[in-house]
Amino acid sequence: MFSSSTLVYSLSLFISISLLFFLLSPHILLSSSRHNLLSTADDLEDLSLFHRAAVSTTNNRRLISLSLIPPPKIAFLFLTNSDLSFLPLWESFFQGHEDLYNVYIHADPTSTVSPLIDSSINAKFIPARKTARASPTLISAERRLLASAILDDPNNLYFALVSQHCIPLHSFSYIHNHLFSSSSDQQSFIEILSDEPFLPKRYNARGDNAMLPEIRYEDFRVGSQFFVLAKRHALMVIKERKLWRKFRLPCFDNESCYPEEHYFPTLLSLEDPKGCSHFTLTRVNWTGSVGGHPHTYGASEVSPHLIHSLRRSNSSLDYFFARKFSPDSLQPLMGIADAVIFRD
Ligand SMILES: *[C@@H]1O[C@H](CO)[C@@H](O)[C@H](O)[C@H]1NC(C)=O
Ligand SMILES: *[C@@H]1O[C@H](CO)[C@@H](O)[C@H](O)[C@H]1NC(C)=O
Ligand SMILES: *[C@@H]1O[C@H](CO)[C@@H](O)[C@H](O)[C@H]1NC(C)=O
Repeated sequence: MFSSSTLVYSLSLFISISLLFFLLSPHILLSSSRHNLLSTADDLEDLSLFHRAAVSTTNNRRLISLSLIPPPKIAFLFLTNSDLSFLPLWESFFQGHEDLYNVYIHADPTSTVSPLIDSSINAKFIPARKTARASPTLISAERRLLASAILDDPNNLYFALVSQHCIPLHSFSYIHNHLFSSSSDQQSFIEILSDEPFLPKRYNARGDNAMLPEIRYEDFRVGSQFFVLAKRHALMVIKERKLWRKFRLPCFDNESCYPEEHYFPTLLSLEDPKGCSHFTLTRVNWTGSVGGHPHTYGASEVSPHLIHSLRRSNSSLDYFFARKFSPDSLQPLMGIADAVIFRD
């Protein structure tokens, strides 16, 4: 019975993938002329990965209920297109918590990150493709990270997205305790905003009302790219097809094109608004931002006072992470890691 339903599932997947191939082709032809980095083959490969991850969870659920409940883990999803300057800081952060986390890295093929043979964090490099601003490639990369982490370890129950410019603001224990302290359904920590003045331009970046009928303007949301998702939401994201069909289209207006800041908040706000915090746990300083880049803290700005002030938030939780920091700030950050950053 199990194998016959699997067969039906596989067959229907095959048919829907084939259909999708034909349905999407005209878009692909159009978009490649506008330098879209996404190919149909890549999209199909992703679909297959997402499907495997979704199916693995259905099968795992039975196994877990039969065994003792294992300690819940946090999957840290590193997204980088350059380096991993803060690796030593993250290694200190993870030290002593080996059974409570996993690290997955999506390193652009153009990045300088090589396999971390000597690293203690046992990171897994997931199959990566090139990402670029003003394109849907960051959404794809984030979904690949989520799917790979779901597939790799059924005990990954939270999924924290960070970049090469992010640092921790608290100890690992503090973060783990706060995420798993509540006994009720775990919520996701993702910023979800409406009524931002630039929202109409962002909504129409692919052409006037191009998001219709799937996404109405009143359902369109924006939020920080950096989230901490609960597993049920991570699964929702990798199974999603409808919104992706629109978000994968290239923008005409690349100045208003930040698909990764809209896809996740719009989807979660439509599907489970009450299950989300609506605020992010990653602090960023937009004061004096230039060209869509926030303030980047340099070595001379690092101090215990900075860490304490970056932690402070207006929501129910302190900030867990902060960005952006320049590579030269690693040394002063290491200098205050044990006494300040990991003391809480
Ligand atoms: C947007 O397009 C213009 C003109 O095609 C180009 O010069 C610029 O680099 C693009 N910006 C981004 C963020 O891709
Ligand atoms: C944010 O960045 C500005 C510089 O752009 C700086 O003056 C300010 O102190 C920063 N705020 C915090 C809280 O670090
Ligand atoms: C908290 O809210 C106050 C008042 O709205 C604002 O000035 C401040 O910047 C906020 N702090 C953070 C960390 O968002």
